[in-house]
Amino acid sequence: MTGKTKVISVGENAIQAIEEALDVLRKGGLVAFPTETVYGLGADAMNSTAVERVFAVKGRPATNPLIVHVASLEVAEKFAVAIPEKGQKLAETFFPGPLTLVLHARSGVPRVVTGGLDTVAIRIPRQEFTLQLLKCFGSGLVGPSANISGSPSPTLASHVLHDFDGKIELILDAGQTHIGVESTVVDVTIDPPVILRAGGISQNEIESIIGPVEHAGKGHSLRHRSPGTRFRHYAPNAKVVIVQKGQKDELERLVAQCREEGKHFCVVTHSFRSMKIQTDDNRCYYYDTLTEYARNLFRILRKADEEHCDIVLVEAVEEKGLGVAIMDRLRRAAEE
Ligand code: TXA
Ligand code: MG
Repeated sequence: MTGKTKVISVGENAIQAIEEALDVLRKGGLVAFPTETVYGLGADAMNSTAVERVFAVKGRPATNPLIVHVASLEVAEKFAVAIPEKGQKLAETFFPGPLTLVLHARSGVPRVVTGGLDTVAIRIPRQEFTLQLLKCFGSGLVGPSANISGSPSPTLASHVLHDFDGKIELILDAGQTHIGVESTVVDVTIDPPVILRAGGISQNEIESIIGPVEHAGKGHSLRHRSPGTRFRHYAPNAKVVIVQKGQKDELERLVAQCREEGKHFCVVTHSFRSMKIQTDDNRCYYYDTLTEYARNLFRILRKADEEHCDIVLVEAVEEKGLGVAIMDRLRRAAEE
């Protein structure tokens, strides 16, 4: 691509934004779009050349498959066959929403999309503008998170511009994404189904609809089914250090150590509001709820790099509900 990346604020002129996006996508170009979870990097899922460009600009390993975003289950059937009953139930309950279903792929789906697997991941996002765009497009858009592979997912259009300025045609700006962590990926081609990635919908919510599911966590025999978990993820340049929940003394010790060593640091906590941690420039962020914590986590990790922090001290949260997805992202951001 030659030229600049255009950014359109979709709130101001949705119809024009959709027309411009469709024009780029139909020519095989790349368009970053908002979803309720994080921004996605869109390309026509049936256009192998366009999809290859997505892998290239992200620096993504070819063996890590992409999610196909569609507006309806009817369109999903262009990509997937024989949706099992539990998949149907989850789709009825959570689509559109922060859920991705891994299904048996149709033979016509480009191999580059599935990373050579015989399954395909399908998601209907719950973001009004993007749903409209998908309806008008009429087919599927691949949509990996719109970040360079390995760095924190984008929750603002400015994050996408930071990573891809001059490398993609268009960014559709709808402000900060609502949920802030990615969708829950569930493989329903096996029974019991397996959660391959924790995300915006909790295991409890899923089990309340289809009964017990498994979770392909570290060391789990089904982990190989989740290619994405093999790669380094979500990491800022700054070192991420996790402090156990409620360990005020430990946090104070680490803060003192940073000061002593002249390190630039920031702190993300949810239970130490009364601690009044003094950081340079007030870089201490409190989030009372898991929802707020998830919504702001990637933004803070990116901000830490913008502000040249050496260290991000993050307080762990309880691994319940959205807390499972938060801790998954924190652990992987903290991996050496
Ligand atoms: O919330 C989201 O899901 C965002 C927004 C933009 O929709 N997208 C996203 O895409 O997070 P990405 O590519 O960053 O993560 C997709 C995950 C990866 O872990 C990938 O390995 C997994 O889904 N995945 C995709 N297709 C798969 C398949 N056929 N089998 C198993 N896992 C698959
Ligand atoms: Mg990603």
